[in-house]
Amino acid sequence: MKPAHLLFATAASLFSLLSLPSCKSGGGDTIKIGEFASLTGKEATFGTSSHEGTLLAIEQVNAAGGVLGKKLELLTEDDQTKAGEPANAVNKLISKDGVVAILGEVASSRSLEAAPICQQNKIPMISPASTNPTVTKEGDYIFRVCFNDIFQGGALANFASGPLKAKKVAILTDVKSDYSKGLAKSFKEKYASSGGAVGIELDFNGGDKDFKGQLTAIKSDAPDAIFLPGYYNDVALICIQAKQLGMNIPIFGGDGWESESLLTIGKDAVESHFFSTHCSIEQPTPEMIAFVAAYKKRFNGKSPDAMAVLGYDSAMVLVDAMKRANTTESAALRDAIAATKDFSGASGKFSLNADRDAVKALVFIQIKGGKFTYNATVNP
Ligand code: PHE
Repeated sequence: MKPAHLLFATAASLFSLLSLPSCKSGGGDTIKIGEFASLTGKEATFGTSSHEGTLLAIEQVNAAGGVLGKKLELLTEDDQTKAGEPANAVNKLISKDGVVAILGEVASSRSLEAAPICQQNKIPMISPASTNPTVTKEGDYIFRVCFNDIFQGGALANFASGPLKAKKVAILTDVKSDYSKGLAKSFKEKYASSGGAVGIELDFNGGDKDFKGQLTAIKSDAPDAIFLPGYYNDVALICIQAKQLGMNIPIFGGDGWESESLLTIGKDAVESHFFSTHCSIEQPTPEMIAFVAAYKKRFNGKSPDAMAVLGYDSAMVLVDAMKRANTTESAALRDAIAATKDFSGASGKFSLNADRDAVKALVFIQIKGGKFTYNATVNP
């Protein structure tokens, strides 16, 4: 005999199981959009930001009446910054929830895991911020609203030999990240071909805590600067340890540096270093001004970062395509996304090219006085 409270628990879970399908299916009165993001775990600021931007877009569209006579319903899955979870997330969103399109992810390794599943199911996927060149090569249903790392690596190489005047650059790569490996490669090709000397090249594993070995070796190689295509949490620790070793050469990287946590963890150790990213929230365009104001209002005065801006743009590109397609049917929706031209996003004006990548400008940021400060813009 089972105690009464266990019987009750069993009955209650049975009830919730039975009631689940009816409340999820929604009877087709909403348009379901899936999203997967790293809301928790090591890169939680990436997913939290892109999710907030995405959510703001969905709420604004719904407040203005929705799309094709229906309200949008955003179904969000947390992939916990963990390999294996993006596949679970998109499988669930497609097979169980029946979403018409998927938004995500920020990190390239996680987008690369999900993309083949979306492609196979012919569900359009729009990555807000994954820059690894191979992401959109996964197939004709895979898009991004950001530039790729061929462009970003080239801009960083020109920056190193130009404004930074670095004749020799050491490279420190996170071998666990497709983003880091891809950006290191495109930087190196462009920098070397334009006459720069690539110094010592070393690796780390994202999540490592001690970088003194690599940094000591870099110090003896005596480069003019260190190129560090990593994510903010590792970057902050590396900058702290470089400072402790008395190294005061410039360290620079790409969009993976962008998070307020870089400043709160790195403090004065990240001062005066540079990185490239997607946009600056100081851009004086009407779209950026309106976005920043709406975001601050919605999220208790918090300032948006690039992932938030791109999350917003990814959702708005999808909505614009739904309107032009006048349907959410998969092939027609795919074609409409592919035809995105001169889109006035919060991040800037962009078009999607034949490779389904956004063609758009990049900005350089310098950390000055403990703040991200706009430095320069590079046009495509
Ligand atoms: N571009 C990075 C990647 O592909 C993700 C990222 C985007 C990080 C924007 C920060 C800001 O993995």
